[in-house]
Amino acid sequence: MRKPIIAGNWKMNKTAAEARTLIQMLKNKIDTDKVEVVVCPTFTSIGAVIEEIEGTKIGVGAQNMHFENSGAFTGEISADMLVEAGVKYVIIGHSERRQYFNETDETVNKKLVKAIEKKLVPIVCVGESLEQREAGQEKTIVTNQVKAAFKDVSGSDAPKVVVAYEPIWAIGTGKTASSEQAEEVCGWIRNTIEEMYDNKVSQAVRIQYGGSVNANNVNELMGMENIDGALVGGASLKEDFASLVNYEA
Ligand code: PGA
Repeated sequence: MRKPIIAGNWKMNKTAAEARTLIQMLKNKIDTDKVEVVVCPTFTSIGAVIEEIEGTKIGVGAQNMHFENSGAFTGEISADMLVEAGVKYVIIGHSERRQYFNETDETVNKKLVKAIEKKLVPIVCVGESLEQREAGQEKTIVTNQVKAAFKDVSGSDAPKVVVAYEPIWAIGTGKTASSEQAEEVCGWIRNTIEEMYDNKVSQAVRIQYGGSVNANNVNELMGMENIDGALVGGASLKEDFASLVNYEA
């Protein structure tokens, strides 16, 4: 019922020329029939990647955006600018942005609302740190992040949002959450959405797992009831991403 969605977050990697080479290599190997596939290059590589994916079903996402339409916000990018460039998705509130660039639950919410208004598909990231997990706080942290992110989002808009559960301790560490751990938290996220809206909305929202996903662990993760996709960092920069997307469910 929910179409799986796998997104590659290229982070601050690949110049435009390198991004072009990467997508040229990936595009013919990726099967987009069963899975919605998104790649998120840096802002300066978006143009090159969009040229290359023409005629394919691969979508392009940005890694961030500002919540205002325009103005004196040096170094920022607006939703309209992304839409004009051909971008269809936007990652919001990645833990690296929360950690290093002062992203808060409040700015995440403002960006989420703006992205929906501008018809971008938001991929909103939530997840606990190692300290928080060790203190047994992961359920509170993640459900509060979800509640804050969806504040002021209507029940008709909520199903457009993709949520990515990314435990910070599993990002770039090679340490994946076990499928059971990931499924447990994704289940809490779905329950939170059900409490905020209703069962129909919660069954429509797609929830990704992210954190050291690769071609070897993707099958098991995708086999979980509440996991509808993956947000992939390191493995999305390699040929591995094609095998990962073409996982056998
Ligand atoms: P990783 O990153 O796959 O390299 O762990 C995931 C992410 O940060 O989205």
